[in-house]
Amino acid sequence: LFAGDWQFIWASPSIETLPPMAGVEVAFAGRSNVGKSSLINALTGRNALARTSHTPGRTQELIFFEGPDNMGFRLVDMPGYGYASAPKAKVASWTALIHKFLQGRASLARVYVLIDARHGLKEVDLDVLKTLDKSAVSYQVVLTKADQVKPAELEQRVVDIKAALAKHPAAFPDILVTSSRTGAGMPELRAAMARLLAE
Ligand code: GTP
Ligand code: MG
Repeated sequence: LFAGDWQFIWASPSIETLPPMAGVEVAFAGRSNVGKSSLINALTGRNALARTSHTPGRTQELIFFEGPDNMGFRLVDMPGYGYASAPKAKVASWTALIHKFLQGRASLARVYVLIDARHGLKEVDLDVLKTLDKSAVSYQVVLTKADQVKPAELEQRVVDIKAALAKHPAAFPDILVTSSRTGAGMPELRAAMARLLAE
């Protein structure tokens, strides 16, 4: 699944211009700069498939990538939420787009909610979890940038997030720990998606 060639198929700045629903879609949500686009590149083994940047606010649309062999598998890169220094109107429109997409997409089979291992869950993340609780989509928390945190701190972060997730019965109780830089957690994440596609 992840060995073949992935390609960009669609970019949508609004909920009105999405591609027709098809196949199995997996979306990556998270605060600005958490590493959504980098994770897509690490997963697909394509360095510059999704555009990444040092500065938050890089991804400004819903970006769809299609997997190899017409298997009908798609990854969706999303704009980040909670980007404090972007113009207010932009933040509001991205946030609305994200919440609408997460609530109303029948082809969306799984959402990965990315959380920076250095920062843990923030209020804006909890808002997204609430939206996902109301939608029918299964979702799981993925810690990113694990390479930036000492093992003991990482362990504590995992414990804290699992405790918070207990209030969100729709969430997977387990979380995945990843680093796009070292490749940690990629095999597990790829395996989870392969299982999803096989369902
Ligand atoms: P927006 O599109 O702006 O919301 O950001 P994003 O969530 O797509 O983040 P992006 O992938 O663009 O990465 C943001 C920054 O974090 C870049 O400088 C990446 O190099 C860095 N980064 C991403 N993943 C990792 C990681 O696993 N480890 C480290 N150390 N840095 C990472
Ligand atoms: Mg991005």
